Amino acid sequence: MTGRLIVTAATGTESLLVHELRSLGLDCRAGRAGTVELDGNRLDGARAAVHSRVAVRVLEEVGVFVLDGDGKRALYEGTRAIDWTEHATARTTIAVKVKSASQNEGPFASSIFAAQVIKDAIVDRIRDASGGERPSVDRRDPDVLVIAHIGRGRAELFLDLAGGPLHRRGYRVAPTAAPLKESLAAAVVLAARYDGTRSFLDPMTGSGTLAIEAARIARRIAPRAGRLGMERWASFDDGARVALERIRGEARAAELPRVPAPLVAIDSDPAALEAARANAARARVDRDIVFQRGDARAVDVGGAGTLIAVNPPYGDRLAARDLDSLYEDFARCVRARAGVSLVALSGNPRFERAIGPRPRWSREVRNGPIRCRLLYWDL
Ligand SMILES: C[S@@+](CC[C@H](N)C(=O)[O-])C[C@H]1O[C@@H](n2cnc3c(N)ncnc32)[C@H](O)[C@@H]1O
Repeated sequence: MTGRLIVTAATGTESLLVHELRSLGLDCRAGRAGTVELDGNRLDGARAAVHSRVAVRVLEEVGVFVLDGDGKRALYEGTRAIDWTEHATARTTIAVKVKSASQNEGPFASSIFAAQVIKDAIVDRIRDASGGERPSVDRRDPDVLVIAHIGRGRAELFLDLAGGPLHRRGYRVAPTAAPLKESLAAAVVLAARYDGTRSFLDPMTGSGTLAIEAARIARRIAPRAGRLGMERWASFDDGARVALERIRGEARAAELPRVPAPLVAIDSDPAALEAARANAARARVDRDIVFQRGDARAVDVGGAGTLIAVNPPYGDRLAARDLDSLYEDFARCVRARAGVSLVALSGNPRFERAIGPRPRWSREVRNGPIRCRLLYWDL
């Protein structure tokens, strides 16, 4: 029996996630901020984890209970009442991550404290069922990752199907300043309805995330090739193994050998370009993207139909005057070409004003703690 399934994503990208999951043939609807409710079984969750570019986690609910009294005892008892032996044994490693609502007070103001209580209850439950043997904790690479949401006097406990956040695709080998999360970069590209059949340009590419995600969309490379956390659960049986292999096999068979239309990624910083190239190689798309050193203010933005995707600097490392002139010069350069589209994830309202015409659509999106706007123009 599969518990309720929830797929999480950056706040503001829920409708993109719903669209993406439905196009995978999955039944779902938007839930609380940053979540989508998935109707289905664990293998539907696995399909979402393998194929969704926008999802951050796929979670299966294992228990929900009220936290009354001092809360701590209720958290311990509520957690212990769940049959953890279905998923974990004394030889399984576990880890607990707690997302505690910001308004929480008392014992649950600290997520570390709540995680400790939950971990103790899980360990005690398994120890009692295993003749005194206890599972151990592995925070870095657990077999079973438990995610708890605590808020409004309730605890919701989930298992993380993938065993970690899906935005970590594993291709980011070279660090740069302020890279976008891969899932958010994919959301930017998918929001512009990019499917690989039009030319693509990222003129301020940094570590290359937008271009790499675009190339992987164009080549139909599934975002999650590696193992999922659920494969290490005690409840993962041969039937599930065969079904998951089929999902992965279908994903591999759908890959295209080359991108159908050109992708260009530009940055003025040679170190960023070097990182972007290394990341693209790891992501298996280095031969699909042309990387160039250049200035976004004087770039050839391509012919009609090109999609320009940009995540411009927000201003933390540039003086306001320099930033304004960067935005204005870039805007002039883009407006000089008719027939291009521009999608931008911007953390600075001055960027939107500099472009000039009103965007065809825009929405607020959370980039970690930063409130950003996702903006789209047909120019
Ligand atoms: C916010 S970062 C982009 C981060 C990127 N989306 C990623 O995921 O790594 C902005 C990038 O714009 C580049 N940049 C700033 N001014 C530029 C210019 N005039 N021409 C080209 N690139 C520029 C910076 O070097 C930096 O890499």
